[in-house]
Amino acid sequence: MSLSALWQQFFPPRPTFTDKDVKPGSQVGKVFIITGAHSGIGLALLKILYPTGATIYLAGRSPAKMDKAIREVAAASSNATTPATLKTLYLDITDLATVKPAASTFTSRETRLDVLWNNAGVGCPAESVTKQGLEVHVGANCVAPLLFVQELLPVLRATARSPDTPRASVRIVWSGSLHIEMTAPPGGIDFTRIDSPRPEDVSRLDYAASKAGNWFLAAEGARRWGADGIMSVCQNPGNLYTSFYDNEPWLLVLFLKTFILYETRYGAYTMLFAGLSPLVGEGGNGAYIWPWGRIKPVARPDVLREGAEEGGKAKAFWEWCERAWEKHI
Ligand SMILES: NC(=O)c1ccc[n+]([C@@H]2O[C@H](COP(=O)([O-])OP(=O)(O)OC[C@H]3O[C@@H](n4cnc5c(N)ncnc54)[C@H](OP(=O)(O)O)[C@@H]3O)[C@@H](O)[C@H]2O)c1
Repeated sequence: MSLSALWQQFFPPRPTFTDKDVKPGSQVGKVFIITGAHSGIGLALLKILYPTGATIYLAGRSPAKMDKAIREVAAASSNATTPATLKTLYLDITDLATVKPAASTFTSRETRLDVLWNNAGVGCPAESVTKQGLEVHVGANCVAPLLFVQELLPVLRATARSPDTPRASVRIVWSGSLHIEMTAPPGGIDFTRIDSPRPEDVSRLDYAASKAGNWFLAAEGARRWGADGIMSVCQNPGNLYTSFYDNEPWLLVLFLKTFILYETRYGAYTMLFAGLSPLVGEGGNGAYIWPWGRIKPVARPDVLREGAEEGGKAKAFWEWCERAWEKHI
């Protein structure tokens, strides 16, 4: 990858699509889901969206943390004239058994879904495999979110078809990372590695592969759902100081915080751009987005090609994910 592409993602220019571009009340009537919305980048996005009046579901495995986040966001914006309606969904991305119930709970309550931010993710957690024995990064960051989307497709399609829905506004946002470019294995995914997870050998490489997997799912999703009017894009939120760095040595974190980590709201601007900016029009379906909201290609030619080309590794990875859940669901 080029050093310039790396530099531009480590040190992005000022964001151009921010809270000022989503006016109070501007999203009344819309319904959003943010996975992992009670912390980090997801929480920062929730705070930006709260005054817009949307109905927003926080999806996650920690009901108490989600309830606390709801109370905090509401208290911090108590003067909002059109506050969002905030609700929760139980979803554990390391347990496929929770995915269909989460989607069916949602569809039993709502008749539309405008934007789904697949934000929740794991990076080198204590458990190296999911409840179903999948390598934890692809299992949690790719297989469960893809199953979640598949279960929500009827409501996404219905929303896109509705006459009051603007074109290119129904979106699925996947979460990439600079690790795709820096650390992912050749071609993005190494199938032999994810076919036979080795708990003793889990590393950043597996995290990076799962993020390349998110780019593949975004690009393949755009090809499969584009005709239904559903957009599918992948964003690298940027390098943000969140609990993702909790397990790193404190000296390294101090160094990173000083030089390359930004406040979470910047990551939320990238996600806001991906989910709501009119610049991500129909021509932007399948786009990759750099921080803090720029449509730019994945800067690793091998990974870019495997995602962007029809019939490339993206399709094979999609089918791998489907087979992974078919065994268990
Ligand atoms: N921070 C960065 O610099 C950076 C850079 C590139 C990409 N990203 C991506 O950004 C996304 C958000 O991360 P973040 O930095 O905001 O870190 P974070 O604050 O740790 O957020 C991660 C979220 O994922 C949720 N989550 C983890 N395991 C889960 C599970 N099994 N089921 C349901 N939810 C689960 C967490 O909930 P719990 O509290 O319940 O664990 C948390 O809300 C991730 O996809 C990450 O890969 C982050």
